[in-house]
Amino acid sequence: MNYEQKRIEKVNEIEEILQNYLPDTAGYQTLIAEAMAYSLMAGGKRLRPMLMNETYQMFGGNSEIIRPFMAAIEMIHTYSLVHDDLPAMDNDDYRRGRKTTHVVYGEDMGILTGDALLNYAFETAASAFDMEPEKGRAIGRAIQILSKKAGIYGMIGGQVVDVKETGHKISPDTLHFIFELKTGALIESSMMIGAVLAGADDSEVAVVEQIAHDIGFAFQIQDDILDVTSSADVLGKPTHSDEKNEKTTYVTLKGLTQAREDVAHISEKAIQKLDALDVQNDYLKWLLQSLIHREK
Ligand code: IPE
Ligand code: IPE
Ligand code: MG
Ligand code: MG
Ligand code: MG
Repeated sequence: MNYEQKRIEKVNEIEEILQNYLPDTAGYQTLIAEAMAYSLMAGGKRLRPMLMNETYQMFGGNSEIIRPFMAAIEMIHTYSLVHDDLPAMDNDDYRRGRKTTHVVYGEDMGILTGDALLNYAFETAASAFDMEPEKGRAIGRAIQILSKKAGIYGMIGGQVVDVKETGHKISPDTLHFIFELKTGALIESSMMIGAVLAGADDSEVAVVEQIAHDIGFAFQIQDDILDVTSSADVLGKPTHSDEKNEKTTYVTLKGLTQAREDVAHISEKAIQKLDALDVQNDYLKWLLQSLIHREK
């Protein structure tokens, strides 16, 4: 099996985990549970749970406690997209090849679906305590990382500056700050949680955080590139959304050629740091390389 076939198999495994952790559709919860499934099961690359599990395995992790955390990170990421697409934010109508949640279910339910996914993520992650109570310390630390990286010192903090600076020309430093938080933080938490749950020590977790920082930064540069170079069919979301919203992007600041060079350079730097670790995961290395030229 080649790496691309392996990736598809891993995506399928992640989707099965997500499906298993979704709330039941019953009674008064039917509508919200359906809307959660609509956004969560719409597809998407499943990059964050994949990075988490690969990092977990790289550090020797081999138990099922990783599963609720894989589901939780994808729920938080999906909530961030549901809210990012709302009329009050980027106001986009397509996501993951479907009409966005607020278009199908209404704006009120779009807000509540995001809220529900965020809260359910922590409910799901906390179920790891019941699976292996003796790992309580590592599980607690993982929940701490998840909450911080999703919050005001993480993804939300980045989205705040992103929306407040919409329509303004911003400096490279401000854009850097936005990227590190709105996109970098959840990618950092994915890999750090994998390491923590596998029993990596603090210095190893710190290196993993640096690697993920670079991966996240390059990932958002590529997202800005694809917004101007790709098509809605390929991306599953509208192109030229940034232009529509008058956002300063990596491309408007540095141009396409420089942006492409920086994706490659920053990603290669991260891969070198990964290579320098005592532990190895060849699939993870391939995955990070494949992101340099990702088309969606
Ligand atoms: C989109 O993330 C939002 C960004 C942080 C750039 P992804 O490109 O990972 O979206 P999905 O999960 O594949 O839909
Ligand atoms: C969003 O950045 C990052 C999030 C935290 C959701 P974008 O607004 O560029 O993401 P897309 O392009 O809509 O996926
Ligand atoms: Mg946005
Ligand atoms: Mg957006
Ligand atoms: Mg974008």
